Amino acid sequence: MKYSVKQTALEQENKSLFIAIFENQELSPAALKLDLKLKGEITEAVKNGEVSGKIGRILVLRHGAQRIILVGCGKQNEVTERQYKQIIQKAVKTAKETIATTIINALTEVKIKDRDLYWNVRFAVETIEEDNYIFEQFKSKKSENNSKLAEIIFYTEENHEQAELAIRHATAISSGVKAAKDIANCPPNICNPAYLAEQANQLAHRSSLIKTTVIGEKEMKKLGMNAYLAVSCGSKNEAKLSVMEYRNHENPNAKPIVLVGKGLTFDAGGISLKPAADMDEMKYDMCGAASVYGVMNAIAELQLPLNVIGVMAGCENLPDGNAYRPGDILTTMSGLTVEVLNTDAEGRLVLCDTLTYVERFEPELVIDVATLTGACVVALGQHNSGLVSTDDNLAQDLERAAKLANDKAWRLPLSEEYQEQLKSKFADLANLGGRWGGAITAGAFLSNFTKNYPWAHLDIAGTAWLQGQNKGATGRPVSLLVQFLLNQVK
Ligand code: BES
Ligand code: MN
Ligand code: ZN
Repeated sequence: MKYSVKQTALEQENKSLFIAIFENQELSPAALKLDLKLKGEITEAVKNGEVSGKIGRILVLRHGAQRIILVGCGKQNEVTERQYKQIIQKAVKTAKETIATTIINALTEVKIKDRDLYWNVRFAVETIEEDNYIFEQFKSKKSENNSKLAEIIFYTEENHEQAELAIRHATAISSGVKAAKDIANCPPNICNPAYLAEQANQLAHRSSLIKTTVIGEKEMKKLGMNAYLAVSCGSKNEAKLSVMEYRNHENPNAKPIVLVGKGLTFDAGGISLKPAADMDEMKYDMCGAASVYGVMNAIAELQLPLNVIGVMAGCENLPDGNAYRPGDILTTMSGLTVEVLNTDAEGRLVLCDTLTYVERFEPELVIDVATLTGACVVALGQHNSGLVSTDDNLAQDLERAAKLANDKAWRLPLSEEYQEQLKSKFADLANLGGRWGGAITAGAFLSNFTKNYPWAHLDIAGTAWLQGQNKGATGRPVSLLVQFLLNQVK
């Protein structure tokens, strides 16, 4: 889809229109303007009850080749982000069922509660791109696209620059989201750690600002990453740690922001095998890595003046004669020893060594993103990612970015009592925190390995993919993280 911003006449034979109608029979400015020219046709349609301001109501008027799509938009100034998304979805779906090729979108006149034009445009583009996503690489018969809709012009009399910036940000975020979804939806017989590494290498080919390094098991062994390696023992697919270094800060020596993604391309649980039901969904256990990859795509497109290092911790957790066992004691790269009580708590083992590894970059801060615990889904459901942090400023910055981007996250407490649950009889730490507060104790476990930099952890177990009919990766939290990085640009 092509997007632009213009102050343009509403009446154009070859361009169709989105026009807002609000509750209480209130016409938007564009609707009023058009109504005059159409000799009261809109007022009449509203009076007849053929269309109303109720969200979801819609009426298409035909004027020659022009389609005037009147859209119910609820109460002006009180429209929520969710309602706005529904409005855009409905309008675009309707337009796709008409002959319209270009739309002049006057839904820019919808005022989202506490938001300005920038967000109106940004959320519109993100919503449309999101809805256009399909993953059918593995279908012999591709779905047909009968829609002719190719261009959306945002109609606005002022703040062109804001609207243009919103398009720029939204298209970059959307391509990041798409990149994340594409690798996340890819099946685990194809998307293995080497595949992730290959994507990281290709990204470096596409962008001159990115340099990729891939670390294999031999080097991990030398580095003492024994917790990470233990998880990989049961798989024939070699573990690969992919490091994407993006350097574009005006001061090349500026400390980098490091993003670490859990990249379990499949998590069967290992010897502590998971039940069969829905086990296919554990191909999504690399969604943290996928989102980091998506973010790197987006910031390369935006050329943000920052130094950012994205790390994908690729690995596979399978049961096997060579697999690690409950009872094993592992010496991590940090020197701390860990008693394995459950081989299905593997994410924290892969991450703890990766979090030690990234110390070499002298990070300004580190954020890890992981489908880490089912307990997080129990605690927060599927709408908020879990946030755990040892640094209040960083946590607040992430909360702010989550709110702005409407990619929600909720902070969980991390006080020292939780460490008690990680005590092991035989090693420095256990990889299991017992029955209660599992999302927090997983974070508490990681916090033992992040003492040398400000750190936050996003548990995306509930938000990274959808189940049921709409099964598929969501690309979350790419927009949260890109927003966080946009806010870091001074
Ligand atoms: N990848 C899973 C977490 C997960 C489970 C995410 C279901 C999304 C849906 C993780 O590796 C895991 O298995 N965690 C265990 C930890 C437990 C053994 C302490 C869990 O949540 O059950
Ligand atoms: Mn697991
Ligand atoms: Zn896992």
